[in-house]
Formats: sequence, C-alpha cells, structure tokens
Amino acid sequence: MNVSDAVNSRKSIRAFLDQPIETSLLINLLKIASRSPSGGNLQPWHIYLLNGKKMDDFKEFMKQWDNPEQPQYEIYPPNLKEPYRTSRFELGEAMYQLLEIPRDDKAARFAHLMENFNFFGAPAALFCFVDETMGPPQWSDLGMFLQTFMLLAQEHGIDTCAQEAWAVKPDSLREFFSVPEELNIFCGMAIGYKDTQARVNELHSERRSADEWLTIFD
Ligand SMILES: Cc1cc2nc3c(=O)[nH]c(=O)nc-3n(C[C@H](O)[C@H](O)[C@H](O)COP(=O)(O)O)c2cc1C
Repeated sequence: MNVSDAVNSRKSIRAFLDQPIETSLLINLLKIASRSPSGGNLQPWHIYLLNGKKMDDFKEFMKQWDNPEQPQYEIYPPNLKEPYRTSRFELGEAMYQLLEIPRDDKAARFAHLMENFNFFGAPAALFCFVDETMGPPQWSDLGMFLQTFMLLAQEHGIDTCAQEAWAVKPDSLREFFSVPEELNIFCGMAIGYKDTQARVNELHSERRSADEWLTIFD
C-alpha cells in the first residue's frame, strides 16, 4: 500500500470486531509513528496504549464510574460558525441516517455517543496526552503523530477512530491510569478490525471543495 492509498482508504470506524491485536505490533507502529515531525523536535506526545486484559478492566471501570467531570477543554468553539457548523451537522445526520436513528430520538443518539466510551467495541486503544505547559504548536504536533499512526495502521489492515470524546473524561483516566498531574488528555483512539456488516462503517465523510480552503498565488 502506498501513502496515497493509505490516506484515501483510511476512515473512522465506529463498530469493531471482537478480534484481538498483538500488543507488539501496535508498539512497533507507534515507534515508527514517532518519526513524525514536531516543531523543535519536541516530540510532545505521551501515548498510553491499552490492550488485552487491561482493556477489559478499563471498560469495567468505566461502567462503574459515575463521578461528574470537568472536560479537559472545549471540543468545539461555542457557537460554531459556518462553514464548520454545516460540516459537523452533515456528518452527524449522515451517521444517524445509516444507524436509522431519527433526529427526535435523543435517547438513541445519546446511546450511540456513549459507545465512544466502549471504544465502539474495539479490542485496543490509545490515549494521547500532552504536558500542561504546551500550546497550540505542540498540540498540532500531536495530530501529526496520530495521523501517521493511523496511516501505518491502515497499511497493516488495522482500523481506527480518533476520539476527542475522551476529553470529557479526564478524571476517570487520571484515576485508572495514575496519569501524572502535568499531563492533560488530548484524545483517545479506538484500534481494531472493522465490522464490515455494521452500517455505520459505510459512512463516507464529505470534504469541502478545495476552492473553499485553498488560496493560490501562482
Ligand atoms: C482529533 C480527532 C478527534 C475525533 N473524535 C471523535 C470522537 O470522539 N468520536 C467519533 O465518533 N469520531 C471522532 N473523530 C472522527 C471524525 O469525526 C472524523 O475524522 C471526520 O468526520 C472525518 O471522517 P473520516 O475520519 O472517516 O475521514 C475524531 C477525529 C479527530 C481527528
């Protein structure tokens, strides 16, 4: 698989098979992903890899945890403006249409959202943390690392879904993983093999036309 194929075929998977993945393979891909660039070569990513029995324990822990939490950060700006608002809306509508959940069925939509905290059934996951002193440039470096990892996973037939949803669960993560005070959660990522029978995985997210975001001086 060449890079273009990996970029074009990667997509977020939201229903996984109960099929295990070797921890050693994931460690290897993470090590390769650390070749990602970062400003000043700070390499600001801190990755917690979760697999096997610990994953089972964590899912059990999450089912029992019901302490209220203060989100680590606001996932979207308040009053999201256009065209971002429409992109987000269209993604949600396309997804719930595949899941056959109508707009007024708030309970079913919420239940699907909660599936984030079961990693959509994935057997493995990672969490990406960043030191509290780091700012926007270093947070963007995290994105470099995560996309590189997702493309490497794609090359190995492994599916992923990045999950900012975990930003609303900083305390549960701190408690379970004994995360040091100075590390803040950026996002999680579900890792596994896609369930090809699940309709939600048919979702193909649209992209805005290049005229909308590309300014050319030639
Ligand atoms: C940093 C990041 C966080 C994300 N968080 C979530 C999430 O919490 N839950 C979810 O279902 N999808 C999440 N996504 C997936 C996006 O919705 C998805 O990337 C976008 O709709 C484009 O679709 P594609 O990944 O299939 O190309 C996240 C993606 C990124 C890059």
